Amino acid sequence: MTDSIIIRNVRRRDIDSIMKIEYESFLPGLREEKDLYLKRIKAFADGFLVAQDSDTGQIGGYISSELWREDQGVNADVLALGHDPLSVHDQNGKYLYITSFGTLPDWRGKKIGLKLFMALEEKIEKNYPNVIKKILIVSEKWTAARNLYTRQGFKETGRIINFFTPDNLPAEDAVIMMKPAY
Ligand SMILES: CC(C)(COP(=O)(O)OP(=O)(O)OC[C@H]1O[C@@H](n2cnc3c(N)ncnc32)[C@H](O)[C@@H]1OP(=O)(O)O)[C@@H](O)C(=O)NCCC(=O)NCCS
Repeated sequence: MTDSIIIRNVRRRDIDSIMKIEYESFLPGLREEKDLYLKRIKAFADGFLVAQDSDTGQIGGYISSELWREDQGVNADVLALGHDPLSVHDQNGKYLYITSFGTLPDWRGKKIGLKLFMALEEKIEKNYPNVIKKILIVSEKWTAARNLYTRQGFKETGRIINFFTPDNLPAEDAVIMMKPAY
């Protein structure tokens, strides 16, 4: 399957596939809404990639991002799940913030996530040379994602205690990770 995977920019009509991945990747209470994903596509489609099987047409992964102004604080308020990309995204922003990332469970462990992640980094480096820093947050519990980010050169810069609040489960700390963009 991996030979037939292509990485391409998102299209608005991919939204239902993206929501399926979102649903299968995150616990209730942590899932973000379709409206928010549509706003992400509108705000910065160039920083939103999907992985598609060119044999079957199935979309099995996505990664979305925003560009933030340098004076944008990196704090719990602006990092909050569901924040409005249309008000935060700035096309000339110097910080890349990776808003979400997921692959379908039966696509995992095949380096498709890694391929998506690297494709986004390469694209931003090429098309947005002003970007000086890449930022993301990850739950302390999402080991696969944390390993991938660490391997890609991201380092923990802080934590937000009890940031992720899945329904009927204990809250999880968010790990803030950053990487210089050059
Ligand atoms: C994080 C995620 C996108 C990685 O996607 P992926 O397609 O599995 O990526 P890769 O194949 O490159 O694997 C990344 C790591 O996850 C491990 N992994 C994750 N799920 C796995 C599975 N079901 N089977 C085997 N390995 C798995 C891989 O072994 C790999 O670690 P390694 O390089 O140390 O071996 C995917 O695990 C996912 O959607 N997780 C749930 C949502 C999530 O945590 N998103 C990140 C939000 S910050």
